[in-house]
Amino acid sequence: MDTSNDFLSIRDFSPEKIRELLDLAADIKASPKTYAAALHGKTLAMIFEKPSLRTRVTFDVGIQQLGGFSLYLSPAEINLGKRESVYDVAKNLERMVQCIMIRTFAHEIVQRMAEYAAIPIINGLTDFSHPCQAMADFLTIREVKGTVAGLKVAFIGDGNNVAHSLMFAGAQLGARVWVATPLGYEPSAEAVKWARERGQQTGATITLTNHPVEAATDADVIYTDVWASMGQEAETEQRKRIFLPYQVDSELFSHARHDAIFLHCLPAHRGDEVTDAVIDSPHSLVYQEAENRLHVQKAIMFELMKGEAVLRPRRAEEREIVHT
Ligand code: CP
Ligand code: NVA
Repeated sequence: MDTSNDFLSIRDFSPEKIRELLDLAADIKASPKTYAAALHGKTLAMIFEKPSLRTRVTFDVGIQQLGGFSLYLSPAEINLGKRESVYDVAKNLERMVQCIMIRTFAHEIVQRMAEYAAIPIINGLTDFSHPCQAMADFLTIREVKGTVAGLKVAFIGDGNNVAHSLMFAGAQLGARVWVATPLGYEPSAEAVKWARERGQQTGATITLTNHPVEAATDADVIYTDVWASMGQEAETEQRKRIFLPYQVDSELFSHARHDAIFLHCLPAHRGDEVTDAVIDSPHSLVYQEAENRLHVQKAIMFELMKGEAVLRPRRAEEREIVHT
């Protein structure tokens, strides 16, 4: 990659590189067989300190579709920082696998892992960001809208990890990103500052508001996420009361453009941040978005691990040996 051998944040890349990765993901989606042996024999370790459906399945299936293998390391097995230090985990795994995907709490853990390990590290979600998700989100937007520049993308809900990465990717791609949150739940000021500065280069704008209707009005994309993220379970009831005016229901969605799309990283808490009527409507592309996790992550893994990889059909001698 042009600016990093890891995939920790959308911020680590140039706008051109983000576009190139989306182009590659689109190509992999259109011609998966071309890449069927691209990472032949390479292994991805997947460290999960939080639950997952999409991230686990799409990384696992994705590396297999590229000719490689994955292994799943559960919270109980690794117990990062308690059973064993981040440093020692990195120094062990770099001798055994070619790439590590990690889902954890503090963002600093993925940064330290990247600093210590000689192999690429992929951020599979931290409390601060979810870059693979934002790549899938913008691949989906591009597929449907043809372009991203100038589109109004409205995130309505908690200014969380998903909101941060959506802002970063929107800033890289020239979108008009709006983030509507309750007072006190805005995205991090440092994240907003970075996105606004990048926007000066790309034409993107970042607007914060506490008024969901203002964000939804004439939006091309309405996006929401859970009100209490993993690790915030104790705040669930309190947040339900605070966030109720930010629920994406048919009334709020009606302020968007007639051809607006609805996105959600999933899992969704139906009846909280989004109603069934919206998430099950023809405007909703949440399952296409989820599938696109597979294609963008194949692109990311390919870029990080390709080394001397040659794209070609498998040769006859590499095919499965049939014992007679
Ligand atoms: N969107 C997403 O990352 O889903 P999982 O938590 O199921 O991996
Ligand atoms: N904000 C959510 C995203 C889940 C994919 C969380 O961190 O739990």
